This record gives sequence, structure tokens and C-alpha cells, in this order.
Amino acid sequence: MNFQDRTALVTGSAQGIGLEIARQFDTAGARVVIVDLFQEGVDAACKEIAGSVDDERIAGFTCDVADSDSVWALFRSVKGHFGKLDILVNNAGITRDGLFARMTFESWKKVIDVNLTGTYLCCRQGLALLRKSPAGRIVNLSSISANGNIGQANYSASKAGVIGLTKTLALELAHYNMTVNAVAPGFIDTKMTQAVSDEARKHWLDKVPAKRAGTPLDVARAVAFLASDKASYITGEVVEVDGGLHVPKRFPARVEQA
Ligand SMILES: NC(=O)c1ccc[n+]([C@@H]2O[C@H](COP(=O)([O-])OP(=O)(O)OC[C@H]3O[C@@H](n4cnc5c(N)ncnc54)[C@H](O)[C@@H]3O)[C@@H](O)[C@H]2O)c1
Repeated sequence: MNFQDRTALVTGSAQGIGLEIARQFDTAGARVVIVDLFQEGVDAACKEIAGSVDDERIAGFTCDVADSDSVWALFRSVKGHFGKLDILVNNAGITRDGLFARMTFESWKKVIDVNLTGTYLCCRQGLALLRKSPAGRIVNLSSISANGNIGQANYSASKAGVIGLTKTLALELAHYNMTVNAVAPGFIDTKMTQAVSDEARKHWLDKVPAKRAGTPLDVARAVAFLASDKASYITGEVVEVDGGLHVPKRFPARVEQA
């Protein structure tokens, strides 16, 4: 894939899946905008990808995607720095897991604010720049938890909301030659899933037909494809990157394959 004349912004790219997505864009020649909460993380990611924070193809900005003013300032900085934007990847996301009966309003709101409202704010504020691109792309990070998951009412609702937003924007923005898609990862090895107990980890991995956790690279490759020219006729799609976890099972799990 070639992103040589493209500028790509990835939110939450100081670590994990976002950092790998940024690395893929950089490797394919794009100008890359690293975005995360803290300067230290942003600088470290820029340094890791470019070898130097001053590399002219990489720019890093701090931003809280849940804060409207912060997002407004981010896109003003991107316009000032690169003058254009072709690809927006809404990757920043958090979890605050707990059973619904004990879920506080604060933890509900925090997750919705970052995962769903943050995606809305970046799409809304980034639109003016993306519309000017000859082939604008938005890729949103959802999750297989969008289908429901015990202990994740807030997270599941936010990621289902991301899918609804993705499909609606795909319809509304197609006439700008823009595509809007989502990637829904399953169980991916990052700091987010390191917080999960060993028991829960085993429970999930036992269910994965591929019999392994995913890597950030597995997800980043799907995002890069959807952001590329090769995916110009794909829009409003949700690509599951989960080793087959989402596929309905036809037989009881104990039936051995021949
Ligand atoms: N890891 C998984 O198994 C998995 C599965 C499904 C979906 N996802 C989704 O993929 C995305 C990346 O997940 P990850 O595992 O790399 O997570 P991670 O926790 O390793 O990284 C998330 C990044 O987002 C940043 N961030 C958090 N809140 C932010 C905010 N308000 N503004 C800006 N940046 C913020 C964090 O600082 C961090 O760098 C998330 O949207 C997550 O929900 C992950």
C-alpha cells in the first residue's frame, strides 16, 4: 500500500493499536499525526516511529478527544502544520468495566464521552479538512463488544454507537468521495487487555477459533487497507478482526473437528 501523498491522523496513538496503525502509515510513506492525552507519550511515539521527534513527516499533538475545545485546537494545529488531512482514524478508547447493577453514572459517562462523543467530535471537527481531500477516509475503532458483553454495558453501548455513527456518515459523506468504515477487534494483546484477569483472558482465548490473541498489527493492517485506494468502493462496513470469534457456532464447542 502506498500513502505517499496522504496525511493520516490517528487518535490514541501513543501506544497499543493506535501506535501500530501510525507505524503502518509511516512505513507506507504517509505524513502522520500522532494524537494522545500526554506530551510524554506523544513525543515517545513520534520518536519511536520517526527515529526523531523532528522528522518532518511526523507531527504530534496532545488532545483529549472527549473535550470539544481540545479537538477544535487539534484540527486547527493540523491545518497549520500540514495544511491538509486525508485519513482520520478514531482509535482513542477506554474501558471502565463493571456489572451494570454497580456501574456508576461517572463510569458510564466517561466511557461514552471518550469512545463515542470523542469519535463524533473528531469526525465533526475534521470534516472541513477531510472534505477537501480527493479521497477522504474515516476509520473508526469499534469492538466485538458492540454485540453485548457482560461487565461492559458502557463500553458495549459506546462501540455499538460508533457503528451507527459510521454507517450514517458513510451515507452522508459518500458524495464527497469519502468512505467511512469501522474495524471491530476481538481480543488483542495491548495494555487495555493486560488489565483483564487471567481467568477472563483464558475464558476469551478458549473461545477464539484461531486459538490466539490478536496483535496490534493484525488490526492495523485492516485499518490501513480500509484507508487505502484499494478500498475505495467499501463504505459503511464493519470489519471484524477477531480470529473468528464473532462467527456463530453451529455445533456445541465440545464437538471435535474431523
Ligand atoms: N485491545 C483490545 O482487545 C481491543 C478490542 C476491541 C477494541 N479495541 C479498541 O481499539 C482501540 C485501541 O485500543 P488499545 O487496546 O490499543 O488501547 P490502549 O489502552 O492500549 O490505548 C488507547 C490509547 O488511547 C489514549 N486515550 C485514552 N483516552 C483518550 C482521550 N480522551 N483522548 C485522547 N487519547 C486518549 C490512551 O492514552 C492510549 O494511548 C480502542 O478504541 C479500543 O476500544 C481494543
